Amino acid sequence: MKNIDADTHLTGTSVYLDDLPLLQGTLFAAAYGAPVAHGILRRLDISEALQIPGLIRIFTAKDIPGENQIGGIIPDEPLLADHHIHFAGMPLALVVAHNRDAARAAVKKIQAIIDPLEVITNPRIAQARGELIMPPKSVIQGDTAEAWPRCTHIFEGAIDINGQEHLYIETQGAYAIPQEHGALKVYSSTQGPTAVQRTIARVSGIPMHRIEVVVTRLGGGFGGKEDQANTWAALCALAAQLLHRPVKYVLHRMEDMTMTGKRHPYMADFKIGLDAALKILAYEVTFFQNAGASADLSPAVLQRTLFHCTNAYYIPNVSATAYSCRTHLPPNTAFRGFGGPQGMYVIEAAIAAAATGLHIDKAQIQRANLIQTGDAFPYGQIAESEAVSSWQKAESLYEPDKIRASIHAFNAAHSLVKKGMALMPICFGISFTNTLMNNARSLVHIYSDGSVGISTGAVEMGQGVNTKILQVAAQTFGISYERVKINATSTYTVANTSPSAASATTDLNGKATLIACNALLERLLDLIVKDLGVERKCLSIQQEVVLNNGVPTDWNWVRLVNTAFVQRVALSENGHYATPVIHYDPISGKGHPFAYHVYGTAIIEVTVDCLRGTYETDSVKVVHDFGRSMNPDIDRGQIEGGIVQGIGWMTLEEVIYNQEGKLLSNALSTYKVPDIYAVPKEILIEHLHTDMDNLAIFRSKAVGEPPLMYGIGAWFALRDAILAFRPDAVLPFVAPMTPEKVLMALYAKQPVPAYEEKVSHLGID
Ligand code: MTE
Ligand code: HPA
Ligand code: MOS
Repeated sequence: MKNIDADTHLTGTSVYLDDLPLLQGTLFAAAYGAPVAHGILRRLDISEALQIPGLIRIFTAKDIPGENQIGGIIPDEPLLADHHIHFAGMPLALVVAHNRDAARAAVKKIQAIIDPLEVITNPRIAQARGELIMPPKSVIQGDTAEAWPRCTHIFEGAIDINGQEHLYIETQGAYAIPQEHGALKVYSSTQGPTAVQRTIARVSGIPMHRIEVVVTRLGGGFGGKEDQANTWAALCALAAQLLHRPVKYVLHRMEDMTMTGKRHPYMADFKIGLDAALKILAYEVTFFQNAGASADLSPAVLQRTLFHCTNAYYIPNVSATAYSCRTHLPPNTAFRGFGGPQGMYVIEAAIAAAATGLHIDKAQIQRANLIQTGDAFPYGQIAESEAVSSWQKAESLYEPDKIRASIHAFNAAHSLVKKGMALMPICFGISFTNTLMNNARSLVHIYSDGSVGISTGAVEMGQGVNTKILQVAAQTFGISYERVKINATSTYTVANTSPSAASATTDLNGKATLIACNALLERLLDLIVKDLGVERKCLSIQQEVVLNNGVPTDWNWVRLVNTAFVQRVALSENGHYATPVIHYDPISGKGHPFAYHVYGTAIIEVTVDCLRGTYETDSVKVVHDFGRSMNPDIDRGQIEGGIVQGIGWMTLEEVIYNQEGKLLSNALSTYKVPDIYAVPKEILIEHLHTDMDNLAIFRSKAVGEPPLMYGIGAWFALRDAILAFRPDAVLPFVAPMTPEKVLMALYAKQPVPAYEEKVSHLGID
């Protein structure tokens, strides 16, 4: 089934926040962001701004009727700075005007008088100063200290991975409309309507039941709107509450890029030990997460880094520690993979360091250590692994040995163009790492004409969740897709929802829908058990016809619904689903946090122009563990998009803050995302059909985030090509591998010391 949004997307008629018709009297807001990254706010001079024609009001922290606090996990983030400024772009004031231009013009006239304080952008420095968001977290398995003496080979290294701008096509925004009885209706471009509702309740003092947050769809979220849509919705709500007028604010791209957090940059130190047979015996790693100025989702992101720090490998002795470091950058946040990719890059780098030291192919070490069914992950969960099967299928389908041989031949024949390759296995756990978040509800109405309306907490952001939920209902009822409609997400119809995130949205909301639909189906079919004189279990519906032991009866869907309606049988149902089995004890660091894991193996090939340092991705060949895909077209789209986004993070996209903590890469002219030329020339995706029972909806495994991590292979393929040109190249584990860095690696006279390279993009000389 094709994506139900395909036609309206193609014709430009899909409705986003900025397409909503405006109510008469709507006002426009704009935030004034701090001009420095760290300091004490002495005074705001708004006298000139007040002169701008069309200006209505300028709100500051003291106007907030409720609590000036938006921190979700840790209460450490004011909505509007009152005294302490801790990142450049932190909102200090909200301007409201008759039109957008006036609001923006007034913002430019505001002056802040600030006593500047020292700015820290480097997480290692923050950690050394004790600037931590929370106490460090660890995951431990076995005993590394006992294992080191048994290792034949030990390698150590340091890592520096940069962040990533979400660059959703639709920027952040909200539109708040006052309602009667002191209520508010807020359209928000958010992945988390309940988070927005809760945040507005906190800052406005209005109880949650009077705050309706509505989301039709997003033009992309990628994690950037899991928590950080709250700010803009709360600001609009505040102005609407205080002015009794509708207030809208859609961020300009540059505002969005400077004021919102990104994927977390990480630094890390690793030590890896192998025996003579290349089995990894021990792995120690310390992560320094650059959390930015406040916690936001960083503690949860950090948790997932630890969970995924051994990727798809089994390592008997692991000691991983992670620090969430407070710096003066905008609070970094969720981004596809949620800390997992950073953990996985580090283990891949450790394996690459070992392979280089041992003069062998990295794939040999990877292959020798893939996790098997029955092995324990460091957090205690026992693997039901597809790591080996996906690797083997990739080997038999794509023949990496032959690719390797042809690359050798090519490289021998070409002096200034070199090819490289890498294999990239992935393993990603599905469930929110915070167990209590793994629940969802679905409200299903059957109308008397036989049509079906469904409301869930799921937010459609391009990933196709609405199409899949529609499939669940249509297939369960045995009716045509046209009969089913998925409604806009609203906190009035479905309450207390988790954000659409963790790749689990379809699993959670789809299963809630399945529960509701099954309950309705039982009720409907029970009506005709007597009439037909058969047992319930003999009845089913296919193509809208009721079948008795597979034989059509004279009952169809519409007749059934009509009969139920006439007999006053309830045609609505609310399904509630909470993932069974999962649990995790944060004290012992052990449990079974994930419903299941998604596996896969990619082979990535690149070509480097060794005169210019530029490169192309020739091919990404994947064997992916879909379970049993319920929508192969949508899933393919997710894999292609994830791969390209992952390659962008690893190779092109460079978030650059200067020493003062100001974002230099604040527009598309200075921040390079993959374009059509950067997309791999070939992406092959083969299904690994795994029909084992699992907790995925219709056994169709979650697909939103895992494929991003195939993109990590591009970094190692580039490294491979560089080493083909210059076998003595010293390649620090610094990402992204931009063309500039490739060129440096190809020609640097001195080996590039890891730390010098490392700090350059963090703005420290
Ligand atoms: N695909 C599109 N087109 N747009 C998005 O914003 N977000 C990704 C992924 N795929 C995203 C996307 C992220 S970060 C997640 S967690 C999942 O989709 C969320 O949706 P799901 O839970 O339905 O997979
Ligand atoms: N993934 C994504 N988002 C989240 C998670 C997670 O594991 N936990 C809390 N928010
Ligand atoms: Mo995705 S980072 O869990 O929104």
